[in-house]
Amino acid sequence: KDKSLILAIETSCDETSVAVVKDGCEVLSSVIASQIETHKAFGGVVPEVASRKHVEVITLSIEEAVQQAGVDLQDLSAVAVTQGPGLVGALLVGVVAAKSLAFALDKPLIGTHHIAGHIYANRIVGPLEYPCMALVVSGGHTELVHLEEEGRFQLIGRTRDDAVGEAYDKVARALGFPYPGGPHVDKLALGAEETVDLPRSWLAPDSYDFSFSGLKSAVLNAVNQHKMKGQEVPVAAIAKGFQDSVTEVLVEKAVRAVKEYSSKQLLLCGGVAANQGLRQRLTSRCEEEGIPLTIPPHVYCTDNAAMIGAAAHLKWKHGLTSELDLKADPQLKL
Ligand code: KG4
Ligand code: ZN
Repeated sequence: KDKSLILAIETSCDETSVAVVKDGCEVLSSVIASQIETHKAFGGVVPEVASRKHVEVITLSIEEAVQQAGVDLQDLSAVAVTQGPGLVGALLVGVVAAKSLAFALDKPLIGTHHIAGHIYANRIVGPLEYPCMALVVSGGHTELVHLEEEGRFQLIGRTRDDAVGEAYDKVARALGFPYPGGPHVDKLALGAEETVDLPRSWLAPDSYDFSFSGLKSAVLNAVNQHKMKGQEVPVAAIAKGFQDSVTEVLVEKAVRAVKEYSSKQLLLCGGVAANQGLRQRLTSRCEEEGIPLTIPPHVYCTDNAAMIGAAAHLKWKHGLTSELDLKADPQLKL
């Protein structure tokens, strides 16, 4: 049962995405309608606005994905959808659309975990070797997940406060950049000639958890001190100090986890995987340590439905389909 043709839907946050994926790894089409421009005016994602936007474009996105893939709906093996976690109103739109489609076509429905999706985006790059370790970094998540075998997830560490992407967005705002701020901070940091020394939050020596709120406060303090003295804020130096602190902690904890769990590879995923500073540091540390590292192409790092198709294929293979009363679950556990 390795062969499948899955139509996948992802609407957990501010991207309406529909994809058609063959055998869990070949992306036949991937439509992504981003709402970033809409939310920019508010400085972040507004849940109600997100739901409404999903409703507006979901049907058209499904049609477009099917057309681009050049498939017949009757040939689908299943319809997959992100069940959670995410914004409940946003998730609901995708879940209702997927259920309706599955019912109308008389095809199995597969509820999928959003983080399993981010992790299995790496299947689009190539087959995975187990056990492996995933570092999930996005606007909503910062997690280290150990995969003993296919489909078996063990959460070994997570953020205790802000997600990395969230911290990036808040720091960017303090430095005067619009939402989403991550790419701006990244660019500033890479071009910086000077740096500001900022704290690293290691927590307990054996902990794989993360914390970014102290660092975020340190950045805000640095910005305010300059402003109070009437000085120009050294935005590039602060961005570099912040990025160095974040990436050092992420990379060192991930490398330690790979060693402790004898992982055969490290998978980087989530929107912050686009960060150049993180990619560079992780790539060079993994080379030093002889750890095989995979990072999906950018379009499969940020929220997308192709990754949901890749994850759903594994459930489909094992007959793990959902009932038509599937409910969106904003707190769904991995
Ligand atoms: O995975 P994603 O698209 O959505 C969530 O599921 O959260 O991640 C979006 C997050 C935003 O916080 C954005 O600022 C951050 O990823 N991001 C970056 C970069 N590109 C996107 N953060 C740091 N550096 C980047 N280059
Ligand atoms: Zn995500």
